[in-house]
Amino acid sequence: MEQQLRKSYLDAMEITQWVVRRPPAPEMEKRPAQPLAPEPATAAKAEPPARPSTKPAADHDAPPAWLNEAPLLDEECQPGEASDAAEQLPPRSIVADLGWDALQQHISACKACELHCSRKQTVFGTGSPQADLLIIGEAPGADEDHLGEPFMGRAGKLLNAMLKAIGFERSQVYIANILKCRPPDNRDPHVDEVSHCRPYLMRQIELINPKVILAVGRVSAQNLLESTDTLGRLRGRTHHFGAGNIPLIATYHPTYLLRSPEQKAKSWQDLQQVLTLLQQ
Ligand code: URA
Repeated sequence: MEQQLRKSYLDAMEITQWVVRRPPAPEMEKRPAQPLAPEPATAAKAEPPARPSTKPAADHDAPPAWLNEAPLLDEECQPGEASDAAEQLPPRSIVADLGWDALQQHISACKACELHCSRKQTVFGTGSPQADLLIIGEAPGADEDHLGEPFMGRAGKLLNAMLKAIGFERSQVYIANILKCRPPDNRDPHVDEVSHCRPYLMRQIELINPKVILAVGRVSAQNLLESTDTLGRLRGRTHHFGAGNIPLIATYHPTYLLRSPEQKAKSWQDLQQVLTLLQQ
């Protein structure tokens, strides 16, 4: 990728690039100082416009009114009581035969766990079902529950910038989550919720058959790798997923990177590794 373009993407991720200082050439001293990096506004302009089908991102400076709306509770729901999930979930063999559209329909009608009581809608995934790169996050949050698409909030904006840094538009990859429904108050997914949703994600992976999986965040990495190791231990090496041995890289969740921007340099290393694997 052209140096200047790469630099503007790294700037969009707010990753500082270290440069070797050299003594200025005598004639340079006469010129007015030039900034090493474009101003943030310039970097933002360098980003191509969002693809037309992407729904508009929420304005996070002013929280939208719907964020404070009470959840729509399904009247038949009995939150707190054990669900008869096993009966409601399509048997794994049926899910395993479903095509893309049928799978999406099954998921949108799923009542396998209590999360259907409080969701506004299921969040199936977005992007190209033929993508080489599959990104798997944790679960929808408030923005995603409202808009029906994964990674739409501030974390989504950062994920988009991370993808651009390795040359991808959001529409060129596939983005899905471990869970298809939002856990209330953005709590960690429960074990039973993950296991009810797992056949859906497995079928998505089978149908997409990506070259590389990028697991973002601890919950995604631990569940996909069936490990209890910390993300710090799981990232930094190539794992292999499932019977197809799909190369899998674990990296930090964009939400974590927003809180701990000093870790962005490590996530940049992880993205470079993704790129290397995609090029093999
Ligand atoms: N965080 C996730 O892990 N997934 C989303 O879709 C949004 C935020």
